[in-house]
Amino acid sequence: MPLADAFLDSARFQSEYFFDLNVGVCERCGMVQLGDVVDRERMFHGDYAFFSSTSTRMVAHFQAFARRVLKELDRPDPFVVEIGSNDGSMLHEFARGGARHLGVDPAANVVEAARQQGLRSVCEFFEEASAERILSSDGPADAIVAANCMCHIPYISSVLGGVRRLLKPDGLFVFEDPYLGDILATGAFDQFYDEHALYFSVTSVHNMLAPHGLEIVAIERQNVHGGSMRYYIAHAGSRPRSPEVDGVMAEEHANGLTRRTAFEAIASRAARVRTELPELLRRLRDSGKSIVGYAATAKSATVINYCGITPELVPWIADTTPAKHGLFSPGAHIPVRPYEEFVRNPPDYALLFAWNHAAEIFEKERAYVAGGGRFIVYVPDVKIV
Ligand code: SAH
Ligand code: TMP
Repeated sequence: MPLADAFLDSARFQSEYFFDLNVGVCERCGMVQLGDVVDRERMFHGDYAFFSSTSTRMVAHFQAFARRVLKELDRPDPFVVEIGSNDGSMLHEFARGGARHLGVDPAANVVEAARQQGLRSVCEFFEEASAERILSSDGPADAIVAANCMCHIPYISSVLGGVRRLLKPDGLFVFEDPYLGDILATGAFDQFYDEHALYFSVTSVHNMLAPHGLEIVAIERQNVHGGSMRYYIAHAGSRPRSPEVDGVMAEEHANGLTRRTAFEAIASRAARVRTELPELLRRLRDSGKSIVGYAATAKSATVINYCGITPELVPWIADTTPAKHGLFSPGAHIPVRPYEEFVRNPPDYALLFAWNHAAEIFEKERAYVAGGGRFIVYVPDVKIV
């Protein structure tokens, strides 16, 4: 597989980087992770393609996240550190709420976007050493937060060691990521790509925290990215633990979520999509219909390359991120063009690669649908909606 966010120009086709995408589960601790991890500098650098602010619904979600954390802290002058702060979509709300804040993200271009809004951000990979630096420059943190970032970090032990050092004794570490239970239940096999090194369940998070003297005190389901879980974490023994945590772990055990067999269903679902999706696209194309990809998401790299979708089937992808325009999708090299071209020249069918933002997009595309346009989705099944 190519790197999911490595949109490229034609000069770089020959030197494109590929890696072996395979997923394993540890039946002892429940962690699900990539077998081969890609060097972090190859994925997160000054040309990072993903900007959080491209989804208005996610920006609203991050505002609510920040307000919830401030309410939970309920103390004067809190200091909040965000890991994977990207363009500042969540930091912004902490700043607005009057909190001292610091974002940490290794991608220089997105960090610059945050700094331009006056948000304090440092450009580095958060791990034990950066936690020490922050501790000596700013003091301990009342809260450490992260969204869709912990799952990007295979060297998670160093990060958790840093969290333990940096977090005040009565502080909170709150993070959320796509939830393994939902990935498996919906057959969302395109969540598997280079940047997603870990796929969390409550059980695996519980087990990865224990050696660091940290524990989950509460959890909350989140209706974003196809189903996410938010974990409220504290120093072990410092806060009461919600009974829901043990309840969900028991459920995960009963559902076999941390066993190899749990993956058989998603594997056969992926194989079915691999047959049905190209077939549907070919049938539509052969009957003279126009098809355009909707949103050049990171996830689309998996579905496009695994299913063998080529520019002959999907001639271009419309996307709202200027940094991706004029470039080609990783692997299959499908051109990415501005969303405005989609509006000017709507296709008969839009292959929805951003199915995780479906609610926001269907709302936005009422005129397209009213004009006869249709969406093709493939999670949980291949169908026209
Ligand atoms: N929190 C944002 C961004 C998610 S994308 C959101 O939910 O929209 C993941 C981000 O994590 C990227 O911006 C990437 O550069 C950053 N990242 C990856 N490894 C990191 C690390 N070790 N420390 C801090 N940020 C990291
Ligand atoms: P992701 O799925 O990798 O997080 O990235 C989302 C991509 O989808 C990003 O490139 C922006 C794009 N997008 C659109 O083009 N239109 C939209 O309405 C939304 C929500 C996202």
